[in-house]
Amino acid sequence: MHIKNVIDDIYRLSVNIEDKNYLFEGIWPIPHGISINGYLIKAEKNVLIDLTQDIFNFPQEFTHQMDGVTLGVEDIDILVVNHMEPDHSGWLREFCKKNSKAVIYCTKKAVPLLNAFAGVPAERAVAITDGMVLEVGDYELQFFDTPNIHWPETMMTYERKRKILFSCDAFGSYGSIDEDAIFDDQVSEERHAFFEEEALRYYANIVATFSPFVLKGLEKLGGLAIEVICPSHGIIWRDNPAVIIEHYQRYAGYSKGPAEREVTVVWSSMYGNTKQVLNLVIETLRRRDIPVHVFQVPGDEIGYILASAWKSAGLIFGMPTYEYKMFPPMAHTIDELMVKKVTNKKVFRFGSFGWSGGAQKDFETRTEKAGWDILGHYEWQGAPTEADKAAMQQALEAYCDALIAFTPR
Ligand code: FEO
Repeated sequence: MHIKNVIDDIYRLSVNIEDKNYLFEGIWPIPHGISINGYLIKAEKNVLIDLTQDIFNFPQEFTHQMDGVTLGVEDIDILVVNHMEPDHSGWLREFCKKNSKAVIYCTKKAVPLLNAFAGVPAERAVAITDGMVLEVGDYELQFFDTPNIHWPETMMTYERKRKILFSCDAFGSYGSIDEDAIFDDQVSEERHAFFEEEALRYYANIVATFSPFVLKGLEKLGGLAIEVICPSHGIIWRDNPAVIIEHYQRYAGYSKGPAEREVTVVWSSMYGNTKQVLNLVIETLRRRDIPVHVFQVPGDEIGYILASAWKSAGLIFGMPTYEYKMFPPMAHTIDELMVKKVTNKKVFRFGSFGWSGGAQKDFETRTEKAGWDILGHYEWQGAPTEADKAAMQQALEAYCDALIAFTPR
């Protein structure tokens, strides 16, 4: 990858994580990769906004890209650390060893983290105040506290003259970036659809828990004229930044409900008895014109289930009882939905209760604080009979009625 000019003397540095076995944050599969972007302003004082992770050869790659504008690590005078998560700060320790002069601008909460994560003393940092402006030649950098987008210490940097927002995690997405299509106006319609899906999955995996903070942050940024968004993951939005802002507004809004009139069905089956009604569930939803997304656990990745569940107003779970409780892989899936605060959903559950029963009670206890409206459930012992299927059908029709009423068009 080469250094890319954004505008005037502002440049993008970028690497893609392309190892298909790599798990982002140690959890999330990224089969289509992810980019990590930093931004360089070549001015009377050289500014670097966000670094990269210290994996693969990424620090060397950033350094090599900086060579493209004849700057080395030691030439950086100001380092802006919008966020301390190691995908952006992993290089900090080595960077600061090579460059002992750069002044670090970050939030007050980030100052102790410089030492904790990278052994960088607080004396090297200037803690910004919200709205503070730093003039660097022809560039006016304004810093905004935007806590929890994505961790508590995050901030964003806004270049006032050119109306460019360096948003770090916000407005980001999964997906590797092509060398020749780094801006929204260089990306095909098909790639835009790809990045939209990758932005949703990134949001659901990384940011969703903090949606109330995203809504607050968006309100705060609402007062800014934004002509370009330079995120730390994903493409640069210079033609129509409103597109990605609208996506994020919508994703964050799903936390308040209702989300889209769609249903995510997550199912497990030990011996096929719970699976026997799966087609009935899918066909009923389709007949009612409700898009349905089906996942099996174990098997399907939680990162994909989360994205689908986040976007769907309806959730249906099918799982048998296992040792008086829910089938364990489903319990794990539901716990993850709780962690990510997947809330304001219309919910239904079904399953075979085998010997003892207990899954329904476990399900209800475990999801008590989820903010889910559990509209019904249906269980049977062993294999479902025709009568069970007819009763399920009736319960599902009532579920569809409620979901449609919940998601008016
Ligand atoms: Fe891309 Fe929260 O770091």
